[in-house]
Amino acid sequence: MNAPFKFSDSIKLIRNIKTTGTVAPSSQVLIKRLLAPIDFGSARCIVELGPGNGCVTRALLSRMHADAILVCVEVNSEFATHLRTLNDPRLHVYNVCASSIGDVMAELNVEDLDHVVSSLPLALIDDDVVERILVNVGSALREGGRFLQYQYSLNNYSELKPRFKDVKLRFTLRNMPPAFVYECTK
Ligand SMILES: C[S@@+](CC[C@H](N)C(=O)[O-])C[C@H]1O[C@@H](n2cnc3c(N)ncnc32)[C@H](O)[C@@H]1O
Repeated sequence: MNAPFKFSDSIKLIRNIKTTGTVAPSSQVLIKRLLAPIDFGSARCIVELGPGNGCVTRALLSRMHADAILVCVEVNSEFATHLRTLNDPRLHVYNVCASSIGDVMAELNVEDLDHVVSSLPLALIDDDVVERILVNVGSALREGGRFLQYQYSLNNYSELKPRFKDVKLRFTLRNMPPAFVYECTK
């Protein structure tokens, strides 16, 4: 269920560059690499932070179990409205900052997350907000759950490394711009 590249998606990303940090949606190669560590047969609750135009969201929904839920947390109301048009009963869209993930989970009555997939531009977000996001993610993930994040730099490596049992780092040139993919296991 891959959507074709749409010029209008890039226009929205560029118009909001201070909060998106990019000019083009993630490539299919990057998305495949980002989601590769997830066992979709067993995962029942996945959170996506910074879904934007929904390119990662669609890839998640196409792989997820029929009984699983996907919680998308997007700060931009235009993107959040667009995501709701995906119209999938497994999808819950919240138009709030990712630092509110604890409140979102409480509202949904979810105690343990299997995985958190994030496209957040951590390097552009204020340090105290990044700290709140990472603390919330760390306490929401189940043991063995993963935080999967891509970034265009290694800026946040030192913040991620001490919070997780294991942090693997990969790199792909096949994205604009080329990206690092973090696989952090609790
Ligand atoms: C690089 S874009 C990613 C879009 C898409 N997931 C992709 O991979 O192409 C980053 C997204 O994070 C969202 N974002 C930025 N700061 C956020 C925050 N504090 N909380 C939630 N979403 C945020 C932006 O609005 C944008 O949609």
